Formats: sequence, structure tokens, C-alpha cells
Amino acid sequence: MDFIDKAVERYAHDRTRAEPDLLQRLSEETYRTMRWPGMLCGRLEGRLLKLLVQLTGATRVLEIGMFTGYSALSMAEGMPDDGRLITCDIDPIAKEVAERYFAQSPHGRKIEVRLGPALATIASLRGPFDLVFIDADKENYVHYYRAVVDLVRPGGLIAIDNALWSGKVIAPADRETAIIDELNRLIEADSRVENVLVTIRDGLHLARKR
Ligand SMILES: C[S@@+](CC[C@H](N)C(=O)[O-])C[C@H]1O[C@@H](n2cnc3c(N)ncnc32)[C@H](O)[C@@H]1O
Repeated sequence: MDFIDKAVERYAHDRTRAEPDLLQRLSEETYRTMRWPGMLCGRLEGRLLKLLVQLTGATRVLEIGMFTGYSALSMAEGMPDDGRLITCDIDPIAKEVAERYFAQSPHGRKIEVRLGPALATIASLRGPFDLVFIDADKENYVHYYRAVVDLVRPGGLIAIDNALWSGKVIAPADRETAIIDELNRLIEADSRVENVLVTIRDGLHLARKR
């Protein structure tokens, strides 16, 4: 994720309103204790996700790939009190961390956690969702998109993280990159959505359902 100039990214970070203390503590614990802390989306993208939730007026959100809960809690912050965010992960250690922080937040009660493979979780759900954030294993990215697109309401949003995959998508040389490139192309050609591939962080592909 080093294709954006570090100093420019730092400037954007510093000029973006800080996330609440609880999210900063969650981030610190994740970096101190978890094996791949860089998976956490961080301030810039977390604040953007909250803003997207607010702009779409989302009250039903689905997240694929929770990790330690930073993005879930960021999005829940932008939802009304009766909002519902369903998130899932296969990692019980990440789930333990996430739920400890959800319990300390006034927004945590909006979040329902499902432990298990995301495709099985998606298959058990009924739409419509206002917003879906896809941020789990890249192997299944095309499957995730295909599985959720019909669950999103017209005017709703699908946001796919890591759509630029450290810039490797411009010349895919491995399977994960090829799958991400395939999904980016599929979305661009999908007449059911309007899309923008935003060059924030590792790339955030936004697709608005028509
Ligand atoms: C990039 S991290 C998510 C980061 C999180 N959205 C955030 O911003 O803090 C990806 C997560 O997907 C989870 N994952 C991997 N394969 C999965 C699967 N088949 N089903 C559900 N979750 C999966 C991993 O355990 C990991 O915690």
C-alpha cells in the first residue's frame, strides 16, 4: 500500500477529523497484539465509511470481513439508534477483540457478529441492505460481489476495499491480484450499478445500485 506518497497520505490523515478515543485504542491494541494489523482500515478510510453511511442514510449495513471491528464500529457510528449492522469473520481471536470494544461503545449494540465463512453468512441473510462493505479474503471477492448485489436496495452502495491491491492490479501477476482485477472489470461492465474506483489508501471501489 505504498503507491500514494507517504507525506501526502500523512497530510490527508492529519487534516481528517480524528476518530473517537475508543477507535484509537482499538487500533493501538490491534497493532500491538494482532499478526496483520495493517488490515485495519484506519482513520482516513474509516471516516469515509462513516460518511458514506451517513450520506446514504443507511440503516441496514452488511460487512464482509470484520477483523478487530474498526470499520464496523466506524460505520455503526454513522447509523441511527435503530440501525443494524451485520458483520462476519472466521477469526475467533479478532472477534474477541472486536466484541470487547463494541461493548464499550454506545454504537456497539447496533452490531451483530456472525462467526464463520462469509459466503455461508450471506446465504443466510435476506435483504435489502443499504450498504455492503466487502473486505475479506480476496479469493472470494467475485463471489462476494455476485452474492450481495441482489441484496442491495436500488440507490444502495457496495464498497469494496483493496481494489488497487498495492497497485498490482495494473499488471496482475498472481491469483489474488487477478481476481481483484476481474472484479474491478466486472463492476465497470455491470449495468446494474454506477461505479467509481477511488484511489484512497489501497483503493476503494464504489458501486451504486441503480
Ligand atoms: C482486511 S481484514 C478486515 C478489516 C476490517 N474490515 C477493518 O477495516 O478493520 C479481512 C478479514 O477477513 C477475514 N476473513 C478471511 N476469510 C474469510 C471468510 N472466508 N469469511 C469471513 N471472513 C474472512 C479475516 O479473518 C480478516 O479478519
